[in-house]
Formats: sequence, C-alpha cells, structure tokens
Amino acid sequence: MSNDIQNLKTEISNEITAANDLKTLDDVRVTVLGKKGRITALMKTLGKMDAEERKTKGQALNVLKNEIADLIKTQESALKKQEMDTRLASETLDISLSPRQQDKGHIHPISQTIEELTAIFADMGFSVAEGPDIEDDFYNFTALNFPPGHPAREMQDTFFLPDDEEAQGEHIKKLLRTHTSSVQIRHMQDNQPPHKIICFGRTYRSDYDMTHTPMFHQMEGLMIDKTTHMGHLKGCLQDFVRAFFELDDLTVQFRPSFFPFVEPGAEMDIACSRKTGGLKIGANKDGSVDSWMEILGCGMVHPNVLKSCGLDPEEYQGFAFGMGIERMAMLKYGIPDLRTFYESDVRWLEHYGFDPLDRPNNATGVKQKRA
Ligand code: PHE
Repeated sequence: MSNDIQNLKTEISNEITAANDLKTLDDVRVTVLGKKGRITALMKTLGKMDAEERKTKGQALNVLKNEIADLIKTQESALKKQEMDTRLASETLDISLSPRQQDKGHIHPISQTIEELTAIFADMGFSVAEGPDIEDDFYNFTALNFPPGHPAREMQDTFFLPDDEEAQGEHIKKLLRTHTSSVQIRHMQDNQPPHKIICFGRTYRSDYDMTHTPMFHQMEGLMIDKTTHMGHLKGCLQDFVRAFFELDDLTVQFRPSFFPFVEPGAEMDIACSRKTGGLKIGANKDGSVDSWMEILGCGMVHPNVLKSCGLDPEEYQGFAFGMGIERMAMLKYGIPDLRTFYESDVRWLEHYGFDPLDRPNNATGVKQKRA
C-alpha cells in the first residue's frame, strides 16, 4: 500500500516539476487535488475501509496530500519568479527622456542683461562695486558737482524720505538715488586708486510713460588712474557695445553733452536704421548710417568730483559712464514697452525670459539662445 503511495508521489512530483508554466501547473493541480482528482478519489475510498485500515491509509494519504500541495506551491513561486525575470529583461525604461518644458523657470531679461554686461566688463578687468538705494544729498548730488540749488538737480527729480536727524550737513536729506553715479563717490572714498569698477543697481525718478518708470536699473562704470584719457573711454565703450550687440563693426558716435560730474561730457550713440519698419542696429552695408540711437552718458571725471573724494586732480584722471539696463535689454531683445518689465506676467517672462542653463560667456560671444 505504502508502495503505491510512494509511486503515486513520484509520478505526481514528476508531473509538477515538468510543468513549465503556470497554466500547466494548475492543470496538474486539478487532476490531483481537484474534486475529481486522483488523491481526492483515493480519499473517497477510505469510507469503505474498516477502522484500522482507514486509520493508517488515511494518515498516509493526508501526508501525501500535504506534500503534493507544498510541491505545487514551491513550483508555482519558482514559475512566477521566472515569469517576472523574463518580463524585466524584455522591458526597457527610457531614462533619456528630457524633462517637461513647462516646469522650467526663466531668467528675467534684466538679470540676463546684468550677467552679460558683467561678463563683458569683467573681461576688460573691471570689478563689481555696490552702493545703497537710499542715498543722501551729498552722495547723489553735492559730491558729484551738483551744489545745493544747482539747476541740474531739476533734471533728476526723485522721492525724498524724512530727514535723518542724527546726520550732519548734506547727509541729513535722504532720498532714493537718481543714478548709480553715487557709487563712484562711495567707492573712491573707501578705496585707494587706481579704480576700475562697474556697479549695477536700482535707481529712482518721478517719471512714468512708455519709456520711463519710477524705478529702473542703471549700470555705472568708473576708471581712474594717472594716465587714462578720452581715447581710452572711446575705445572701451566701443568695444563694449560691439561685444554686447554682437556686431564686430558696429559704428558709434560721441556727441558733446552736459553732466555736472564730467568734463568733457558726452553721449554715445550707436548706428541704427528704422527704414525696415522696425529698428535695426548697425550701419548700412555700404557703411553709411541712417540714424543714431543714444545709449549712454559718459565723460572724463570732473576735477571737483576727484577733489570731493580726496584725490588730487593734478595727479589723477579717468572716465565714467552710465547707462539704463532696461534700455539695453529692450534694444538687444526687441522688447517694446518698458512698463511690461515690472508687471510680473508669467507669459511675458516665458516669451522674453532666458533658459537658466544658458549662461553668457565671452568665449561664445555672449550669444544667447531664446528659450
Ligand atoms: N548718471 C548719469 C545719468 O543718470 C549718466 C552718466 C554717468 C553720465 C557717468 C556720465 C558719466 O544720466
């Protein structure tokens, strides 16, 4: 009897190990343990046996049944694992897909332009200085050769703050700086010459229209030593606009102009054409110039300014220049309305903004790809 059971066990075990997919294995299970299965059928014969035989055979059959059930389970998990391994080996995960575009932020044109200006002037050896937005009368006007009551102060109306009771003399009157030229004074007072700096910052005037907002950004430049002259000023600024607008032969002109803190003073224009309807920067192909666009103020630093910073004008000399950053961005990137810079409209930023990973550098000609 136990031999029969042993043979049956071997037979069924072979069937189980031979089943090499889950479907076949389940079929084996039904033929053995199902309602009409072989072991089930044997179980049913127990009822007809006498008590003694039923006991020994019943026990043996139960052991067999459990052993077979275990074997099936083991085979089943082996088959499932095999199936998963095959699936994993055949499925590939493409991790080379680029991230979704709409999740990307953009660099504001003002920040972008500041980066580009920094790159160009850093390449010429200028370092970056800083000064406060809240200035006083001395730094914003007097030290820059706008004495109290000077009519040139009228050109730069600004916002005044309550007087600083603890300050002395011309430091009492607090105001929002009208230009970054105040940083020239602060830098020259705090540092030893030679000076070769640029400075970026917010500036304020009480104006508001398509090309003026009460707050805007400026960049200042200052170079002071014993030999720097007007020729250096012209060369430096011509190189700068050529690098910034990426036009190697961009024509410039200097027109005499008045700023109290420079002598002589000038405005620099770049060649442009309005014939095509829009604005095109640069001269015509034959070298002729249709029109000029004013882009910055400049000049040789006035002796009175050098004196107010403790420098002897007989010994030191140099140039300064200042420009509006929005204006540079509008010209380079074709942005028509200054006011839109500050509306915080995400659609505007998506259109005029820049890819964060696209950093400017002079090696690639500060060429920027529009995002
Ligand atoms: N500060 C002047 C302005 O705001 C610009 C300027 C700077 C002119 C330096 C000459 C020299 O208009």
